[in-house]
Amino acid sequence: MNTSADVSSEPEDLEHQADVARAQVDETLDELAGRVSLKQRAREAAAAVSSAASRASSRASPEITSLIRLDHSHVLSAFRRYRSRSSPARKRAIATHVCLALQIHAQLEEEIFYRALFEAGVSTEVLDKSVNDHEEMRSLIDVLRATAAEDPGHDETFARLIRAVIHHVAEEETVLLPLAEAKLQHRLRELGWKMIVRRVELLKPHAGEVASTAVLTFPVATAVAAVGACAGVWLVLRRLVTPDR
Ligand SMILES: [Fe+2]
Ligand SMILES: [Fe+2]
Repeated sequence: MNTSADVSSEPEDLEHQADVARAQVDETLDELAGRVSLKQRAREAAAAVSSAASRASSRASPEITSLIRLDHSHVLSAFRRYRSRSSPARKRAIATHVCLALQIHAQLEEEIFYRALFEAGVSTEVLDKSVNDHEEMRSLIDVLRATAAEDPGHDETFARLIRAVIHHVAEEETVLLPLAEAKLQHRLRELGWKMIVRRVELLKPHAGEVASTAVLTFPVATAVAAVGACAGVWLVLRRLVTPDR
């Protein structure tokens, strides 16, 4: 993953770089999403998660690969909202939203998805370097969080994060997810359920932050679709906390 490209801090250059990054996001989304729209991914996942929650059963859970694709779509669509000319408050909200989503996603993959692939004997260079990709992403997140949104370095680091994530997501969606669907086909729902339950645990301390930054990141219609799966997760949480409801 190359995140060390030279990046100018001139406003015109930053704007140009942001446009280039957005074009890459658009291109990648088109390639990754194929015939399935982002809203459709979110709707399908939300319906599946709600169904799983109502039955509290891993048999009804969405497959882990579908949940990972949904997470990718969510982050890439948040990337599209960032503009270097936006207000510092909006930039900060988008960055906060993206950083938390990436952090939780990476932890879920490492604890559940990558571990299952290793246990299944999957051996590929992409899997071997995935944790390093995550570490590089975490370093950029640390820099971003320590940089004021008014600082030109914020745009620069955000652009580097976009490039790093696009590269990593493309490798996961073209190599790891198809491999998982071939090698773990009988475990995909069980692993999906584990991911849902663990996500609830990880999101719990950040519920307010997620809600407030989502509102500032997405327009209403997109936010409704994007957070659809969260409603399902909330149903799971309620069921876990109050099992007789
Ligand atoms: Fe990953
Ligand atoms: Fe991923």
